[in-house]
Amino acid sequence: MIVGVLNQKGGVGKTTLSVNLAATLAVEGARVLLIDADPQGSALDWAAARQSEPLFSVVGLPRPTVHKEISQIGQGYDHIIIDGPPRVTDLARSAIMAADVVLIPVQPSPYDIWAAEEVVKLIDEARVYKENLKSLFVVNRKIANTAIGRDVGEALAAYPIPAMNASVTQRVIFAEAAAQGLAVHEVDKDGPAAAEIKAVAIELMEFVR
Ligand SMILES: Nc1ncnc2c1ncn2[C@@H]1O[C@H](COP(=O)(O)OP(=O)(O)OP(=O)(O)O)[C@@H](O)[C@H]1O
Ligand SMILES: [Mg+2]
Repeated sequence: MIVGVLNQKGGVGKTTLSVNLAATLAVEGARVLLIDADPQGSALDWAAARQSEPLFSVVGLPRPTVHKEISQIGQGYDHIIIDGPPRVTDLARSAIMAADVVLIPVQPSPYDIWAAEEVVKLIDEARVYKENLKSLFVVNRKIANTAIGRDVGEALAAYPIPAMNASVTQRVIFAEAAAQGLAVHEVDKDGPAAAEIKAVAIELMEFVR
């Protein structure tokens, strides 16, 4: 499975979800490659901060040719996660063309919901070439028991892309784990953050099957 984690909106959780998704698939025994397609190199920074043994490989490929290079670079891996860049449209477009499924993190805020229009448009354009391209929203940084948390699903329904049932809550552990180059399950194995990431991974696998 090749997953493009994309949204031109900055700071929505692309890197956070990419590294944690890669890690959760890797502990299940899959060979996982994370492609950092962001010139900021945040996933590479995450890997560099890590003291422990790597769970999966990370390569930097902030070029609009990911879709052409992926079959070669991705050889021997079961799953490839592409951590997309904010803004840069040609890089996002290439990552979309490389992917089987595009996972779009959105925060439960009206700005994020409006801004998602950009990535929805890119996916729509890519469908001309890739009829079977799949895409899915995932709500990130949900704040438990708030009206905005509940309304976001309704607001996203205005787009022709489905939203996952699973969502990820706002939790400090995501930033704390990242600071050490760790996945949340490595900090708190049976904690709620790890469980949410696992649920996202399971739903994603079912969606692409
Ligand atoms: N569920 C969460 N709970 C708490 N903090 C989070 C959560 N998701 C992301 N963050 C924090 O929000 C910030 C932005 O997240 P992240 O870097 O993953 O977003 P991004 O979409 O990759 O950003 P960019 O567009 O700059 O690449 C980070 O400081 C991260 O630790
Ligand atoms: Mg990022």
